[in-house]
Amino acid sequence: MNVSIIGAGYVGLVTAGGLAHLGHVVRLGESNPDRVAQLVAGEVPIFEEGLADLLDAARAANTISFHASNVEAVEGSDLVFLCLPTPQGDDGRANLAFINSVVEELAGELGEGDLFVIKSTVPPGTVASLRKRLADLGSSARIVSHPEFLREGRAVPDFLNPDRIVIGAWDQVDADRVASLYADLDTLVIKTDPTSSEMIKYANNSYLASRLTFVNTLANVCEAVGADILDVIEGLGSDHRIGPHFLQPGPGYGGSCFPKDTSALIAVAEDAGYDFQLLRAVITADDEQRRRVAAKVRLAAGGGLRGRKVAMWGIAFKAGTDDVRESPALRIAALLQEEGAEVVAYDPEASTQSVGIAATALEAVDGADVLLVATEWPEFAEVDLAEVASRMRGHRIVDARNLLDPKQVRKVGLDYWGLGRPSA
Ligand code: UGA
Repeated sequence: MNVSIIGAGYVGLVTAGGLAHLGHVVRLGESNPDRVAQLVAGEVPIFEEGLADLLDAARAANTISFHASNVEAVEGSDLVFLCLPTPQGDDGRANLAFINSVVEELAGELGEGDLFVIKSTVPPGTVASLRKRLADLGSSARIVSHPEFLREGRAVPDFLNPDRIVIGAWDQVDADRVASLYADLDTLVIKTDPTSSEMIKYANNSYLASRLTFVNTLANVCEAVGADILDVIEGLGSDHRIGPHFLQPGPGYGGSCFPKDTSALIAVAEDAGYDFQLLRAVITADDEQRRRVAAKVRLAAGGGLRGRKVAMWGIAFKAGTDDVRESPALRIAALLQEEGAEVVAYDPEASTQSVGIAATALEAVDGADVLLVATEWPEFAEVDLAEVASRMRGHRIVDARNLLDPKQVRKVGLDYWGLGRPSA
């Protein structure tokens, strides 16, 4: 099929590469001309494992093209995917300005029966409002909801092997057309109405954020009563109703999705007259988690941070990505800096201007009073701990990802403070 994708962010690029891989002809529209030039030149503007291979293959097969004009990008396509950002506005609500303006721009370009496919995360009811808007504009285009569930760092395998595909359409014919794009994938296809489809996406992210926050707070209780969260998780996750995934305690959730989607769902509920107290408590507890990690580092530094050097391993919001949006590492670093600490970080992929940057994990710990492990990059578990001990000025590691082996750390004479571990 001929498909257009508007927005060359990580969702748009992975969807474009993935659909081309499934045999479709893809036209990608992007408003940033530098990004278009990069793509035309064969570069990939984001770090996402496997994406470059998909795009290279599509370029070689001539099944992908890149356009700085959205109007040009939708020429000859029956399906137009909108993969545009819906950032959090000042009031916690999702900002739909990009979606609205592109729908207005393209409303007259799509012909009878052509479909807008809304991939972006949008509040329940948005696709219904957009349908009215299209009718008001006299457009004959149709519109469906089709949320994405890709994880950064795993987006390509997630695209090619999804847990399910969700399509929200009023008309079975529209749902079937979207589903037919994935005919080669052996996966569950859930067809529903657009508002329920939009809700599935918010439910998914809000549930995962709540689950993590539950585990993080449980780790705090384990710490208080002398239990080991890792054993507790093993017991908990072995219950088939719970399952073992997505249960690792950490410094709080980050990234471009959980923080904005939890706030947006609270706002959606509020607008409909429901106070989503549980989710509000999740956001408060998540914020507290970062403060607890910062407090741990302060304690590890001897009770005060003024003039102390903190080495931070990891900047990215999680391992496997260079994305620093809403990164817990950077928010903790800001709290430490406010109290007078110097923070020097190392990350294999991510960078920032807000803290000092070291070229290697070992260089970061030179003269450090405390080492904070903030992102769970596997390579951090391979660093020579004896060398770490000899380079540090202090002798404590705060492991906010429970990544290192406490026994190995203690063997080289350093103190190990994890999350929810005995003698943390
Ligand atoms: C999330 C969802 O998992 C995707 O399904 C969704 O498509 C995406 O948001 C989106 O809405 O676009 P992502 O933001 O890439 O994906 O990140 P996750 O892998 O879900 O991690 C989110 C946060 O939870 C990270 O800060 C991570 O470090 C943290 N986390 C995750 C933990 O602390 N412990 C865990 O066990 C798992």
